[in-house]
Amino acid sequence: MSSHATIRRLTTADIRARKNQQPIVSLTAYDAPNAAILDDYCDFLLVGDSVGMVVHGLPSTVGVTMEMMIMHGQAVMRGTQRAMVVVDMPFGSYEESKEQAFKNAARIMQETGCQAVKIESGTYAADTIAYLVERSIPVMGHVGLRPQAVHVDGGFKAKGRNQAEWDKVMAEALAAEKAGAFAIVVEGVAEDLAEEITKTVKIPTIGIGASAKCDGQILVTPDMLGLFEWTPKFVKRYGSQKDNVARAVEAYAHEVRERSFPGESQVYSLKPKAS
Ligand code: KIV
Repeated sequence: MSSHATIRRLTTADIRARKNQQPIVSLTAYDAPNAAILDDYCDFLLVGDSVGMVVHGLPSTVGVTMEMMIMHGQAVMRGTQRAMVVVDMPFGSYEESKEQAFKNAARIMQETGCQAVKIESGTYAADTIAYLVERSIPVMGHVGLRPQAVHVDGGFKAKGRNQAEWDKVMAEALAAEKAGAFAIVVEGVAEDLAEEITKTVKIPTIGIGASAKCDGQILVTPDMLGLFEWTPKFVKRYGSQKDNVARAVEAYAHEVRERSFPGESQVYSLKPKAS
């Protein structure tokens, strides 16, 4: 007989059912101990390819590899029990063909144990999304500002500020929905556009730099925790991680220099204890 864990992870069906319901809370996660903290508060965690920038110090997400996504995906799965975990498909792992996308998405799911993958989905990706979903791989779409397109766009540029861009992003969202995506990230678009997409599609929209009227929100965790000097304009900082870490390390360095910390010889003293 199989045993059933008492804690059940949220599923893609749970997330999908939250359309027009209680807002979906999500954050990015990259490692086990931090994911374990986020797990208590988030409906889903995204192992974003932003890992390349915020953990590995790359200038964009373009250099992120399958191996990086799998390693961080495994860590996040180990640290969590409740939140659904979505892993980003990195640049170059899905654009060439539907078959390439399936092979890499299946590898991500098998090697990490995550519940879904995310694809930065221009309209061209609709066939790929449909192909994956038909073959049992749940897909989250990602429209608007697509960080993997940074070199075509000439920077991380907000979308939907003219009619042509507005129509293009709306078409991307509709294509992802029609192809079977269970939810879509809507990143860096005009607020009215995010609202219109949310009203138009029947799957949840997860906004980032978009609109509070989306069905949920996601932020890049180190940005909202205040790890960096610079963050995108729309990010609210809920902490001062950089200052907290610097203060703690400064105090530690000071104590070491002053020899005012408990020395190893005290901690591991071989002196017999007085009985
Ligand atoms: O990689 C990432 O962190 C993302 C979020 C910005 C949605 O795709």
